Amino acid sequence: MILSGGTGSRLWPLSRAGYPKQFLPLAGDRTLFQDTVARVAGPGFAAPLVICNDDHRFIVAEQLRSAGAEARAIVLEPVGRNTAPAAAIAALHLVGETEDGDDPVMLIMPSDHRIAEPDAFRAAVDRAAPAAAAGALVTFGITPDRPETGYGYIKAAGPFGAHDGVSAVERFVEKPDAEIAAGYLAAGGYHWNSGIFLVSARRYLDELTAWCPDMVAACRAALDGAAADLTFCRLDAEAFARSPADSIDYAVMERTAHAAVVPVAMGWSDLGAWSAVWDAGAKDAAGNATRGDVILHDTRNAYVRAEHGLVAVAGLDDVVVVATDDAVLVADRRRAQDVKALVERLKADG
Ligand code: GDD
Ligand code: MG
Repeated sequence: MILSGGTGSRLWPLSRAGYPKQFLPLAGDRTLFQDTVARVAGPGFAAPLVICNDDHRFIVAEQLRSAGAEARAIVLEPVGRNTAPAAAIAALHLVGETEDGDDPVMLIMPSDHRIAEPDAFRAAVDRAAPAAAAGALVTFGITPDRPETGYGYIKAAGPFGAHDGVSAVERFVEKPDAEIAAGYLAAGGYHWNSGIFLVSARRYLDELTAWCPDMVAACRAALDGAAADLTFCRLDAEAFARSPADSIDYAVMERTAHAAVVPVAMGWSDLGAWSAVWDAGAKDAAGNATRGDVILHDTRNAYVRAEHGLVAVAGLDDVVVVATDDAVLVADRRRAQDVKALVERLKADG
């Protein structure tokens, strides 16, 4: 299942509510959503179930079509309720389609990541599959290189049963503060949560029911009352609105006793902010990454993108400049997280 309901506000002004970052070509010619679809195409994977906001249904349908891919369904959320309900809807959908007693293994994929080595990713999914089929909620762990506060941290314990390449989890901490994150880095033995999960659909629903029964009930009602419209499955708006909002990480992963982790080096990056897009992209000898009609003079380690018109930068290091047809962002590259605060101000000011 592909989670495509986020808004990507830190990548303003390119990422907008009406056209969020997963639908943009941020790292190459295909969009992040199309890259995600391609990553899970081929042997071993069923056609994906996409779950997105109702407003983005035509973008999703068009991007699937132009990538030559087909979804098993495109589930439309009337409002965002974060990732735990979205995954519950997908699990209920899959369980509902199976013969009695079958338990499909579900890969939960964010749609806005870059994975430079898709073969390494697929090999990790293969390693995780037997553990997930045996009831583990498997996370994919990335070696941390900085005390990032935007990620979940996973402390690995010993081996997970007899499953090769799979570790048990001592604890899962979602988005710790900077001091705690620095402590984890110093202590060692921690992985970043990549935000990709491989779970048995029934185990996920059982765990969620234990802690958030209202969420599962609301999701079940939203799916029972859903209207089918070609490949679109439009959730019942009133029922889905009753679901509490929470992420998989807080609602399930911090609490479960069944977590496992498969560490994987796959060139992973959450392209969450412009600094990460700069980090992940090709750079010239001066460390600059550019896109579009751009001229630089005496500028180093900058990300400069012209979607519209010409952009020229002289004598500035470590900047982000993104120009679209109706807005221009100029920011310190090391403070790229602050764009979120700018967008919040824009929203507040109407
Ligand atoms: N369908 C749907 N509905 N999708 C959603 C919703 C929603 O309401 N909210 C978010 N998503 C999608 C986003 O588009 C993204 O692809 C994915 O779900 C994850 O959501 P984010 O909002 O980007 O989560 P995060 O980055 O703050 O944190 C997660 O990812 C980190 C790694 O990138 C967590 O899993 C962290 O633990 C993890 O480290
Ligand atoms: Mg994210």
